[in-house]
Amino acid sequence: MTPSPPTILLVVGARPNFMKVAPLLHELLEHPHVFRTRLIHTGQHYDAEMSEVFFQELALPRPNKFLGVGSGSHDEQTAKVMLAFGQVCLEERPDLVVVVGDVNSTMACAITAKKLCIPVAHIEAGLRSRDRTMPEEINRVVTDAISDFLFTPSRDADQNLLREGIPPQRIYFVGNMMIDCLLAQLPKTENRDTLRQFGVDAGNYATLTLHRPSNVDDPEVFSGIVRVMLELSRELPIVWPVHPRSRKMLGQLGLTRCESVKHSRGLKLTDPLGYLDMLTLNRRARLMLTDSGGLQEEATVLGVPCVTLRQNTERPVTVEVGANQVVGNHPAGIRFAVHSLLNGGERQIRVPELWDGKTAARVVNVLRGLYSQHPTSIQR
Ligand code: UD1
Repeated sequence: MTPSPPTILLVVGARPNFMKVAPLLHELLEHPHVFRTRLIHTGQHYDAEMSEVFFQELALPRPNKFLGVGSGSHDEQTAKVMLAFGQVCLEERPDLVVVVGDVNSTMACAITAKKLCIPVAHIEAGLRSRDRTMPEEINRVVTDAISDFLFTPSRDADQNLLREGIPPQRIYFVGNMMIDCLLAQLPKTENRDTLRQFGVDAGNYATLTLHRPSNVDDPEVFSGIVRVMLELSRELPIVWPVHPRSRKMLGQLGLTRCESVKHSRGLKLTDPLGYLDMLTLNRRARLMLTDSGGLQEEATVLGVPCVTLRQNTERPVTVEVGANQVVGNHPAGIRFAVHSLLNGGERQIRVPELWDGKTAARVVNVLRGLYSQHPTSIQR
């Protein structure tokens, strides 16, 4: 009797997970006789514009299980994911759990699986900001420490893992999964009329995203950023899809009622956008302003200069290839960086090694190899 194919659980939880899982899920589903693939959504993000829209645009199938954990403090959210995912593991008896990125769901599911002695693979392993006040840094360090298969997007990530004592045979440099998604979706942005909807012209506006607690949760820091954006938007229109965390703070600070924000012609606030509208805007932007990790990477591949409003980045390769500047969150630093870009010449931006749209295929090749060595389970 032929053994049944091993079961792989792919976990998604929050917005940046969907574009990392989509390419891998589609690749795994091409091999139904080799792997039984199941999609689990923890429900960390739940609004239609933070979750559902990505399922539609990226052609993700309905999750096999939706855990509905929702928002909460870190301990509460992590604990709820662990309780619910533990139950899923007992029911599904997976041979491998695949987690992506660095959100709370990533760490919670990795811990849960490992405690049940289920092998774990981490996609986007090895990134380090070295800033342990960032919740994501804790999630990254913990997930990598216990994962069996660490799939890295860049050489610096390999070095970080080796420095932390991870055995080299667990590390696989495969490139950037999110860029697979970007390259696959890019043709769909060709004729979208997103720019017209926002009244901006190609090459003559910036995009802005903000959601890090370090930028958004402190009223003084956040209002400083909003003020400098209002000022800069008089020179260059800025389209700002506002994350729920930032929306909440705008409300608390009374900025949603503030005349200069409400009636600004240059600073264009909007609800969070779907993947395709955001990609359309980013690819035609003069520059991108962000505190997101993923957008630093997307800017790099799109060849759009990126100004990162943080003190550090876990993605130093984006700086090395000339795409990204990490400027902190003080208004003077942000103003200086934007003016330098506007007044400077064309920037030379290189695409990092293996950010080529073939990462999912490389991961599946590795998994096939592992499985063929141990046909009854996936093992190192
Ligand atoms: C989370 C991730 C972060 C990721 C970001 C992308 C962690 C620790 N943080 O941060 O790494 O970059 O997602 O967006 O996992 N909310 C809604 N609707 C939703 C989801 C959230 O209104 O669908 C609101 C809630 O009020 C919630 C707040 O946004 O309290 C923050 O959500 P949460 O998931 O805790 O963290 P993010 O800031 O989104």
